[in-house]
Amino acid sequence: MISRRNWFLSSAALAAAPQATAQSPGGRFISIASSNGLRAVTLAVTLMKQRNYDTLDAAISGVNIQEEDPEDNSVGYGGLPNEEGIVELDASVMHGPTRRAGSVASIRGIKTPSKVAKLVMERTDHIMLAGEGALRFAKAHGFQEEELLTEKSRKAWLLWKESLRDPRGHNNWGPGLDAPAGADNPPRAWLRQRYPGESPEFLDWAWEMAMHPITGTINCLALNGKGEMSGVTTTSGLAWKLPGRVGDSPIIGAGLFVDQDHGAAGSTGRGEENIRVAGAHTVVENMRHGMSAKDAVLDCLKRVARNYNNDPAKLGRFDLNFYALRKDGDFAGGSLWNGSYSRGQFQPRRFAVSVDGNARMENCVHLLERKA
Ligand code: GLY
Repeated sequence: MISRRNWFLSSAALAAAPQATAQSPGGRFISIASSNGLRAVTLAVTLMKQRNYDTLDAAISGVNIQEEDPEDNSVGYGGLPNEEGIVELDASVMHGPTRRAGSVASIRGIKTPSKVAKLVMERTDHIMLAGEGALRFAKAHGFQEEELLTEKSRKAWLLWKESLRDPRGHNNWGPGLDAPAGADNPPRAWLRQRYPGESPEFLDWAWEMAMHPITGTINCLALNGKGEMSGVTTTSGLAWKLPGRVGDSPIIGAGLFVDQDHGAAGSTGRGEENIRVAGAHTVVENMRHGMSAKDAVLDCLKRVARNYNNDPAKLGRFDLNFYALRKDGDFAGGSLWNGSYSRGQFQPRRFAVSVDGNARMENCVHLLERKA
């Protein structure tokens, strides 16, 4: 029974709590995603609007495109592997209307971990399954175990292994003392000699991956005309990671968070930095306390920068991005850095959005500016 005193306290607490934001105004259908998610947001909005899909099913269908695409080397099939050459995937889902969540971590052999995360949500009394257990659960539900390492990703992994050097310039995966003259030149020089059949574009890309391992990932958030929201994040994680490394993507509150009363958020980039600030939850909390989507992501990024005393040299060694969608339809993508330089060309950090089927890329708001 609630005592009179407790009732009084509860009423005061409720009065102080921030009010839920309005329903999606005008019944708009909105989906936002990371920069690799233009196809995802396009499909998610089409499915919600034209085929009455639930927000989570729409978002998952959107990211399945990247999970199954061998050319996206940061997600699902074709993702860059761990240091042993094995692809390990992380994914999470949250369904706003039922306030449920599911995730899988370090799962091998399944192309679409986002679908397995949804099954964990629907068919178990747990939230997260990891490794071998997650794979067995997926197979029990009829998923096919498949080789996820494509030839392109395998060659990039091998090149990374061969690029490593000890302080004396040695690597067991490279030519030894008895090799012909010139064969033990620094990696960049022997690259074309070592891989004569590969295109210069592939070698440039693979070298970039070896030197700057990616933490790609796709996050997709969806809002329908009734104001219902859901989200999904899925990734192959940090390239060349230690086997068993789990990033932020499957962690509810870090890689993804949805609060049906206020909004949804997700993240891509270096998961370790995100986990330290429980980023997606922090962004949603900021919106719950009344911040716009832009202010919410920028405030969260400031907390990330604070963890390194705002030291640009340390912060410059990674990228981190947040995506935020309020229940009232306000949205933003936010990045630690304004963009990056690839072969001397500046690439602004962007995110994908579709509002009622008008799909486009937009620039992220950013905290810091990278110099050339
Ligand atoms: N954000 C993806 C990862 O760090 O694994």
